[in-house]
Amino acid sequence: MSPATQTSVPTETLLDALHWRYATKVFDPARAISVTDWQALEDSLVLTPSSYGLQPYKFIVVTDPVLKAQLRPVSWGQSQITDASHLVVFLARNTMTEAYVDGYIDRVAEVRGVAKGDLAGYRDLMVGNLVENRVGLNIPEWTARQAYLAFGQLMQTAALMGIDACPIEGLDPKAYDQILGLEGGDYRAVAVCALGYRSDADKYAALPKVRQRAEALIERR
Ligand SMILES: Cc1cc2nc3c(=O)[nH]c(=O)nc-3n(C[C@H](O)[C@H](O)[C@H](O)COP(=O)(O)O)c2cc1C
Repeated sequence: MSPATQTSVPTETLLDALHWRYATKVFDPARAISVTDWQALEDSLVLTPSSYGLQPYKFIVVTDPVLKAQLRPVSWGQSQITDASHLVVFLARNTMTEAYVDGYIDRVAEVRGVAKGDLAGYRDLMVGNLVENRVGLNIPEWTARQAYLAFGQLMQTAALMGIDACPIEGLDPKAYDQILGLEGGDYRAVAVCALGYRSDADKYAALPKVRQRAEALIERR
């Protein structure tokens, strides 16, 4: 969609969605997200912006009931893991390598139709900052932060679509890595999001939303 044809969500609709959403504790196991809606949620993951555009993360979508049942005990036993329609496990890269940066440069060259040589300065900047780590980043922490941007965008997209979500950090990441076959690889599990539809039995849906007053969070200068 070009900027000229971009449509905006009415402010009231956006705020309604942000108030409507809540960290769903009880999902209706009988309601599945449709294929079309799920595609939009995956698009929102793929379209998430990231530092340099490097997208140092991956996502594992879980719908298999057997796998969900394996993940639940290592997710503090939370019922959302088995009862939600879909899970998205967020994986963050463990390292940044020249090969990874070059893969990204190849993609930029392909999509934008530019010569790789024209991207050499950008490539060298990324290699210097992230592979040689001239800026002193904690790379696993940085990649996790990037993954969390996708996490936030996914939840906001779901809210706008009337789809419920529960962000879940209450899990054993090492057990996730083992169950998902990630050990010794380039990525590790950092969090999971359960998505689907709330059960009528979820009393949390009706509770007032607790947030600090805006003045405590937002300073204007
Ligand atoms: C990164 C993150 C991790 C969370 N982990 C869990 C979790 O493991 N289990 C759970 O029930 N809620 C979890 N929550 C939900 C928060 O408790 C909830 O978002 C917060 O209290 C605000 O309430 P609301 O989302 O219902 O508005 C998590 C939220 C975030 C953002």
